[in-house]
Amino acid sequence: MTLTEFIAALDALGADGPARIAAATDLDSWTEVRNALIGRQSGRLTELMGALGALPKEDRREAGQRANTVKVALEAALEARRAELAAAEAAGGRALDLTMPARDRWYGAVHPVSRVIDEVVEIFRELGFAIALGPEAEHAWYNFGALNFPPDHPAMDLHDTLYVGDEQVLRTHTSPVQVRTLQQYPPPIRILAPGNVYRSDPFDPSHAPMFAQIEGLVVDEGVSFADLKATLSHFARRFFGASTRTRFRPSYFPFTEPSAEMDVQCGVCAGSGCSVCKHSGWVEILGSGMVHPAVLEAAGLDSERYTGWAFGMGPARTAISRHGIPDIRILYDSDVRFLDQFAR
Ligand code: PHE
Repeated sequence: MTLTEFIAALDALGADGPARIAAATDLDSWTEVRNALIGRQSGRLTELMGALGALPKEDRREAGQRANTVKVALEAALEARRAELAAAEAAGGRALDLTMPARDRWYGAVHPVSRVIDEVVEIFRELGFAIALGPEAEHAWYNFGALNFPPDHPAMDLHDTLYVGDEQVLRTHTSPVQVRTLQQYPPPIRILAPGNVYRSDPFDPSHAPMFAQIEGLVVDEGVSFADLKATLSHFARRFFGASTRTRFRPSYFPFTEPSAEMDVQCGVCAGSGCSVCKHSGWVEILGSGMVHPAVLEAAGLDSERYTGWAFGMGPARTAISRHGIPDIRILYDSDVRFLDQFAR
């Protein structure tokens, strides 16, 4: 063998060795690879070392040094791979497969309606409102009678309200929580009551048989319509943005007098008119009014001494106008293609 042939054989081993070492997938195959490369009996490097003596005397020194360099490199690569395989074996028997694609992370999302509720609650919490809750299966007296609905009011019809018993309904609004709170706590009262309500409506693009509402109630001595207007205008600017315009329109509810609906300028078209605001430039956000004296009296309060105001809003409506959602049913479909859009 000539020096050139010897070096070529060493280079081949030096090039080929690391790939063979990396290909060992467990400690058994690692041992085979090590024996084939540097084993005392039949290792390729051992063979080459044995051939050193057959080289011309003046070439042996260089050949020996080169062989040693390859040996050191192979030993280092073998030891590194052995440590990896031993660690993997200790961790459950599988070698690390660095070619495996990383797993996709799944981000959770807060539902757009829950997000509206959370934000509304936060804004009123800053103003000192507490949270109050009431039952969804409610006595008809709390849902209607105590709220000054006349006995023949059409809302009480089987056609509009889901009855679960003679006197028991699925609440059609969160206003019964007003009465329950007034019975339970003395004024001053400032509460927010989020929760689900039910109506015997068809499930169509603008109606759902169950949806969320957020009720607000303030009762104390000397509370006026100015408090209502200032608080709700502040809320609109905090929720929709500092430059948001609002307007109050006269309205009617049996349990408030006077009553008003609050509109905000449409956020989608900035008031110029679009399909979300039905080309009016305004979106209705909530119903409100001064608590009717009959409601205070029904809850056992002196309506000469106390006054109050209340509001009720539908967070689904707000989410719809905020995101320009074309069909309310999408909110309740649990379709991850829709919900994923809200993941952060
Ligand atoms: N309860 C009314 C509704 O469901 C909303 C409302 C609440 C209006 C409080 C005035 C005061 O439409």
